[in-house]
Amino acid sequence: MRQAVIAATGLHTPAESVSNAELVAAFNAFAERFNAQNAGAIASGEIAALEPSSEGFIEKASGIKSRYVVNKAGVLDPARMAPDLPERPNEELSILAEMAVLAAREAIAAWGKPASLIGAVLCAASNMQRPYPAMAVEVQGALGVEGFGFDLNVACSSATFGIKTAVDYIATGSVDAVLMVNPEITSAHLNFRDRDSHFIFGDVATAVIVERADQATGGWDVLGTRLKTVFSNNIRNNFGFLNSTHPERDRLAHQDDRLFVQQGRKVFKEVVPMVSAMILEHAGDLGVDPRRLKRLWLHQANINMNDLIARRVLGREPTPEENVIILDEYANTSSAGSIIAFHKHNSGFAPGETGLLCSFGAGYSAGTVFVRKR
Ligand code: COA
Repeated sequence: MRQAVIAATGLHTPAESVSNAELVAAFNAFAERFNAQNAGAIASGEIAALEPSSEGFIEKASGIKSRYVVNKAGVLDPARMAPDLPERPNEELSILAEMAVLAAREAIAAWGKPASLIGAVLCAASNMQRPYPAMAVEVQGALGVEGFGFDLNVACSSATFGIKTAVDYIATGSVDAVLMVNPEITSAHLNFRDRDSHFIFGDVATAVIVERADQATGGWDVLGTRLKTVFSNNIRNNFGFLNSTHPERDRLAHQDDRLFVQQGRKVFKEVVPMVSAMILEHAGDLGVDPRRLKRLWLHQANINMNDLIARRVLGREPTPEENVIILDEYANTSSAGSIIAFHKHNSGFAPGETGLLCSFGAGYSAGTVFVRKR
């Protein structure tokens, strides 16, 4: 079995950013408009009036101060509350593929080897732009990579599922190097009219190159990868080709379950123990002392969840250097969160020091990737 290495990473950050103040102003304008338009139904008790959102709540509950988006004007337009992304002709690169290619090019440049050495492209993200042809194949074509590509969607856990797939391909000798991309236009499946969740997500794309260890010059040894799924309806998105029309859509758009919906408290209570136990068990099986992990690059879910998982894993209050948080600037970027954290904050390691990439989310699903600086 060949050993695998995380050889390089890349990041594409959209140009536009939305502050909590801007987001709350747009939501509150929408809510006021909704309440005025539905004054009769609200007065008769048929539907409930929408409550205003608040910056203070958002920062305290999530740790988020801003998020990047691919289209700010559409998201902040109280009459729209969704990104305005014109359809492109099929001859043009898709917007999701475009973001992935930008992140991939950065990773390939950092790798310092020709893209032709890549044998497979995985597009691992929480929502693909279309069912087929696979986004991964489009990215593969744009980069001039031979071999094969396919999409995989395990929601916020997609990146670690992609890394494990890549590591297993390397182990069995299927390919010598894998490019995994995580383009996330979360703003297109977030319900900006839902007060409970309108602040949660941001857009971004990340890329990771996994390579066989005996051909790698630097990077991070992958010590072990593990995946886990347990079915739950507590984070769900019902969008699909069977339900693209809905008679209630316009009237009760803030309750649309064809966008992201979650039972946030249940998610918190159920996912924190599941993920903490999984990390500790995997560390034990690998002979890694979790208290000696130099850094955690966790899925960027929300500050309270991330802090609690880190405390349980390290057995103490983590320092900001140990538990990397990029939520404040990027928000929850679904599959890309742990990779942004790793990409931006992986310096200062001596050879032999260990860290953990971990993602978790809808499914439920979770993945752990223990790495050691080479
Ligand atoms: N502005 C102001 N108040 C808000 C609000 C907003 N945008 N959204 C909710 N509230 C209010 C609620 O109405 C409620 O008021 P009440 O106590 O008077 O009923 C109060 O804040 C608490 O709401 P709740 O939804 O229970 O918040 P919470 O403290 O559980 O925090 C989450 C919400 C989502 C941040 C929290 O549950 C969480 O961190 N969950 C983990 C889920 C997660 O991160 N998922 C990402 C995918 S992995």
